Amino acid sequence: MFNLAGKKAVITGGGSGIGKAIALTFAQQGAEVHILELNATAGEQVVAEIQQAGGQATAHGADISQQAQVVTIFQAIGPLDILINNAGIAHVGNAENTSEEDFDRVYSVNVKGAYNCLYAALPQLKARTGGVIVNMASIAAHVGLTDRFAYSMSKGAIFAMTLSVARDYLAHNIRCNSISPARVHTPFVDGFIAKNYQGQEQEIFDKLSRSQPIGRMGTPSEVAALALYLCSDEAGFITGCDYPLDGGFIKLNN
Ligand SMILES: NC(=O)c1ccc[n+]([C@@H]2O[C@H](COP(=O)([O-])OP(=O)(O)OC[C@H]3O[C@@H](n4cnc5c(N)ncnc54)[C@H](O)[C@@H]3O)[C@@H](O)[C@H]2O)c1
Repeated sequence: MFNLAGKKAVITGGGSGIGKAIALTFAQQGAEVHILELNATAGEQVVAEIQQAGGQATAHGADISQQAQVVTIFQAIGPLDILINNAGIAHVGNAENTSEEDFDRVYSVNVKGAYNCLYAALPQLKARTGGVIVNMASIAAHVGLTDRFAYSMSKGAIFAMTLSVARDYLAHNIRCNSISPARVHTPFVDGFIAKNYQGQEQEIFDKLSRSQPIGRMGTPSEVAALALYLCSDEAGFITGCDYPLDGGFIKLNN
């Protein structure tokens, strides 16, 4: 089950955290993995790890917010079967203290970046007579979180984007779903704690861990396992769905 042999998968942000775990898992299941990464060195390191384990992978240095760059890279990769829109950036702030610059930056990566990859990938997925897309949303798309104004809006857009694409490409046999993780322990979480809560790192880490009813953060490999299922032939009946992976955050926080 969950065999990806013969499938070509593009994973954005595959150099770190959740994207890295997806890249390693998909390669292990036989996929030819292509990582699109702003941090080209990190992308190359994951590729080396995959190749050492006997898998197939290539890294492409890319800023997904730049459409021309994204289109050129997808053309070089050639017809793909799976797109994982994973790359994203964090931001802490409310509607008053979020600067225009920060708002635009979050949107250009989290929303426009995903759109750019869809724009480049969809003609290829159609040519392949089918395919699968998984977009990385967040619990922030579904509940009101303190001080996550721009980030939550960007993930709400990912949720709506998933439904729109799933509907438009039914006839092309392209499935599109999203995953909404709560806190997953990655450099993304460590980075935003270090930047926004200097001197209180351990306290905030423990608080964030406890905010999941299950009592801990998720792991990148737990997200990768769900992504693998959604991209496998076994999930052939699933499209237009969002999957919370949240230790009970949305439904059990009472
Ligand atoms: N970690 C969490 O708790 C959590 C929870 C919910 C959703 N998410 C989402 O999961 C996704 C991955 O998060 P993570 O925690 O693994 O993050 P991460 O910071 O560990 O990894 C993100 C990767 O994306 C790359 N990236 C950033 N901007 C890019 C750009 N413009 N072009 C190409 N690559 C770029 C980074 O270089 C990095 O390697 C994000 O979309 C995030 O919003 C994370």
